[in-house]
Amino acid sequence: MTKIDTGIASIGLHLPPLAMPVEELASLRGVDPDKYRIGLGCSEISLCPPEFSIVDLASEAARRALSRWEGDLDDIGMIAVGTETAVDMSRPLSAFVADELGLAGSIRSYEVKHACYGGTLALRQACEWRMSGAARDKAALVVAADIALYEQGDPGEPTQGAGAVAFVVERPEIASVGVESHAWSQPAFDFYRPVGEAYPRVDGKLSLECYKKAAQECFSALTRGENPADVLEQFSAICFHVPFPKMVKKAFHLVGEVAGWTAERIEQIYNDKVEPAMRWNQLSGNSYTASLWIAVAHALQGLKAGEQVAAFSYGSGFGSEILSLIAGPRAKDAEWAQDIERDVSRRARVNASGYNLLRAAVRTAAA
Ligand code: HMG
Repeated sequence: MTKIDTGIASIGLHLPPLAMPVEELASLRGVDPDKYRIGLGCSEISLCPPEFSIVDLASEAARRALSRWEGDLDDIGMIAVGTETAVDMSRPLSAFVADELGLAGSIRSYEVKHACYGGTLALRQACEWRMSGAARDKAALVVAADIALYEQGDPGEPTQGAGAVAFVVERPEIASVGVESHAWSQPAFDFYRPVGEAYPRVDGKLSLECYKKAAQECFSALTRGENPADVLEQFSAICFHVPFPKMVKKAFHLVGEVAGWTAERIEQIYNDKVEPAMRWNQLSGNSYTASLWIAVAHALQGLKAGEQVAAFSYGSGFGSEILSLIAGPRAKDAEWAQDIERDVSRRARVNASGYNLLRAAVRTAAA
C-alpha cells in the first residue's frame, strides 16, 4: 500500500477574461468546425487580453488558494511555479508572484521548467520537501500556470488556451499525494521553443507518438505485477494531461489495448473515469502545466474521503509521470469549483475578427 504523508490543503483556479469558441477559429481558417470539435474534441479557447499577463493569471490562482487555507503567509516556506510562459530568463516567475502576494522571508522560491510537466514536478518537489522533514512544518505554495499560443495558422492553433492552478501543500485536507509515482522520460524534439522565439516549434505527429509512448510506459509501471483492470478499478477518476481531449482518448485506448481489454471495456472505462474529468479543460483549452491539474481539480470535486484519483502528467521534450491522490475530508466541499464557474460566467466571448485584433495587439506588445 502506498505510504501517504502530505498533500493538498487548498486549491485555487483561474481562467483569463476572454474566450473564443473553436467554431470562430474554424471560420477564420476555412476548416470544417467538426475537425476541431470532433476530430480534436476542443470546445473553447481561453485567451488573454494584451494587458493581462502570466503574472496576473498565476497570482490570482495563488490568492484564491491562500484565501481558502487556514494558515497565513508566515507559514509558507516554499513557492514553486511550474510554467513554460517564463517572462525572464533569470528571474523566476515565482519572484513575480511572490511580489504580488507580499511573500518574502525564509522562503525557497523558484521556477520549474519541463514543458507541461513542470507543474507536476513543482507539486512533487513540494510534497517530497515536506515528507523529508526539511520543511520543518512549513507549507509550500505551488502554482502551475501557462498561456498557450501557437503561430497563427499552425495546426496547434485550435488547441490553444490558458489557465492556472495553485495549491497550498501542507496537511492533506483536499487530497494526499502518494509517495510512490512512476516516471518515464526520453529526450525528443516533439515540441520546443528556442530562446527568443515567441511560439513553439511543433512536430505534431511526433508529439502524438511521444505522448502515447509515455502513457503506455507510465501505466505499465503503475500496473506491473498486478491485473491492470484491478489497479485502474481502484480509481474514481483517471486524469491525463489534456493538450486536446482526443489525445487523451487515443492514449487511453492504447493503454487499454496493451492491458488486453476489449474495445467495449476500454470505451466504458473511458466514459466512466476519464472523459468526465476533462469538462473544465474544454472551457480552458490547453493550459500546458495547468492542464492536468485542472482535470484533477475537477475530478476531486465531491469525492468521499479515501476515494482515489490517478494523474498522468506529460511534458514535451519529453518527461512524464503517473501519480495517485487520495481524497481527504474536504474534497467533498469542492470550494474551488466556484473559481471556474465565476471566471467562465464573467469572461467575454471573442469572435473571429476580435481574435485577429487580439493577435495583432499581442504581437505588437511582444515586439
Ligand atoms: P492536424 O494535423 O491539422 O489534424 O493537427 P489531423 O489532420 O491529424 O486531424 C485531426 C483529427 O481530426 C483526425 O482524427 C481527423 O481524422 C479528424 P484522428 O484520425 O486523429 O482520430 N478530422 C475530422 N473529424 C471530424 N470532422 C472533420 C474532420 N477533419 C479531420 N471534418 C495536431 C493535429 C494534433 C497535430 C495539431 O493540433 C498539433 O500540432 N497540436 C499541437 C501539438 C499537440 O497538442 N500534441 C499533443 C501531444 S504533445 C503534448 O501534449 C504536449 C503539449 O501540451 C506541450 C507541452 O508539453 O508543453 C502540446
